[in-house]
Amino acid sequence: MEAGSFPVTIRASRDEDVEAMLAIYRHHIGRGVDLSLVHESEPLQPHDLKRRRRNMRNYRLPHLVADRGGAVVGYAYAVLFRKRPAYRYTLKHSIYVHPEHQHSGVGRMLLVSLIDNCAAAGYRQMIGYIDAANKPSIQLHQSCGFRQVGYLCSVGYKFGNWTDVVMVQRSLGSGGTTPPHVWLIAPTGNDSQ
Ligand SMILES: CC(C)(COP(=O)(O)OP(=O)(O)OC[C@H]1O[C@@H](n2cnc3c(N)ncnc32)[C@H](O)[C@@H]1OP(=O)(O)O)[C@@H](O)C(=O)NCCC(=O)NCCS
Repeated sequence: MEAGSFPVTIRASRDEDVEAMLAIYRHHIGRGVDLSLVHESEPLQPHDLKRRRRNMRNYRLPHLVADRGGAVVGYAYAVLFRKRPAYRYTLKHSIYVHPEHQHSGVGRMLLVSLIDNCAAAGYRQMIGYIDAANKPSIQLHQSCGFRQVGYLCSVGYKFGNWTDVVMVQRSLGSGGTTPPHVWLIAPTGNDSQ
């Protein structure tokens, strides 16, 4: 049976998933940023990702993987939008799908589950920053209820070109129409991102 023909399930990530998540991350970051810069900056290490996951659990922040026949084919997570306590009901998020499993519905499953988990934990707004050239991600977010709320010009520099970023947002639960009913923990450390 081909790996791609197994059904996909979305579940919480585990420490054993870290290497697979890092491989997916490195693939995309290598394509999205000039590789010479990747080598200069500190590469993300397995222990960084494990510590980040543990820290996120304290804030009831979902860190999810897409599992296809026992293989991690994508992952998604949300972090606090800003560390100041006033912003503790607002998140920003990231999604990465394995290059061999793109455009087969994995990204949508991850994003829908991430939205549901963040809403269930009591968060009220989700924000995404997307490279303006990343049409698949922009379309995916639009189809999951995000709307464009900003356009940031020339904020990135990749492969010799300035790049723009589209900012998207969607409400979770009752959004800004009712006061929060869950008292979320205000961030303390500097490791929640
Ligand atoms: C963006 C990304 C997460 C989408 O995940 P995916 O699993 O490929 O997307 P899905 O198969 O679930 O498709 C969902 C929707 O996204 C859009 N989409 C996905 N791939 C697309 C493509 N190649 N061209 C145009 N639209 C596309 C479509 O609207 C699609 O809905 P449809 O199948 O009904 O047409 C994935 O391509 C990825 O990991 N990209 C690299 C990392 C990245 O850019 N992350 C997002 C940063 S904000």
